[in-house]
Amino acid sequence: MSEHISIKRDGAVLRLGFNRPEKKNAITTQMYAALAEGLAEAQQDASLRAIMLEATGDFFTSGNDVADFMSGEAMKGDPHVGRPVERFLLAIATAEKPLIAAVQGPAVGVGVTMLLHCDLVFASENATFHTPFTDLALVPEAASSLLLPRIAGHQRAAELLMLGKKIDAVRAREFGIVNDVAACDALEETVLGAARTLSDKAPAALRLTKQLMKGAREETLARMKEEGGHFAAQLQSAEFREAGAAFLQKRKPDFSNLG
Ligand code: COA
Repeated sequence: MSEHISIKRDGAVLRLGFNRPEKKNAITTQMYAALAEGLAEAQQDASLRAIMLEATGDFFTSGNDVADFMSGEAMKGDPHVGRPVERFLLAIATAEKPLIAAVQGPAVGVGVTMLLHCDLVFASENATFHTPFTDLALVPEAASSLLLPRIAGHQRAAELLMLGKKIDAVRAREFGIVNDVAACDALEETVLGAARTLSDKAPAALRLTKQLMKGAREETLARMKEEGGHFAAQLQSAEFREAGAAFLQKRKPDFSNLG
């Protein structure tokens, strides 16, 4: 368990929250492990009918903890059960129960790519969406290289995944990443309302509907694996060393002598 992930039962809704506001909710390996456990609990407990992803503070999440990338911590894990991030991504990609996200502020990196596995995504007016993988000398993860072009189209996906452009909530709704934009003080009720509505539905019918809509998972899981291989290799690269040093020194990376 991690103190940085809050896990609350709210009737039939399991609320999983990023709770590390002092680090903009950057996600550590311990947090991924706690999220994976929470999702497994929701999967097994018949009284839980919907899962809500939310966050405390001014950020939804600033993505993977960059220090974990740099120390190698992000790549550690039990080979039998997979790394915590892999377990989390697998859990959201295969969740049978509805997943609903409340994006109450900026979402960065995996904070955006996890949304592509949600069934409903609501964002507050001040939310932003940013996937600066190429600026960090990294590649997309969570099968976002497959799912985002499908949801948004290739060119729009390239705006996020290649250009690394930050977009606002209205544009994210145009892209199809977000269902609706709510006023900041109305977001929680909007999301809880949707979660409770789903919780009241016939559970088998809802599960089958989601299963039918998602279709076969093999392609998604295979893409995650392919992305994971490139991601791990990039973490060892000179490009990433430069990007990591630039992050720590709070400067723009210089890739002009690389490649
Ligand atoms: N990993 C680790 N630490 C992070 C982090 C991350 N993803 N995001 C923020 N933090 C830390 C900062 O290092 C800082 O720590 P400090 O107080 O010990 O110096 C603290 O959280 C507050 O962040 P700060 O940068 O001061 O806030 P800001 O509002 O100026 O900027 C961000 C916020 C998110 C724009 C900026 O921190 C950032 O670019 N973070 C990296 C995002 C990223 O690249 N994620 C990975 C994508 S794959």
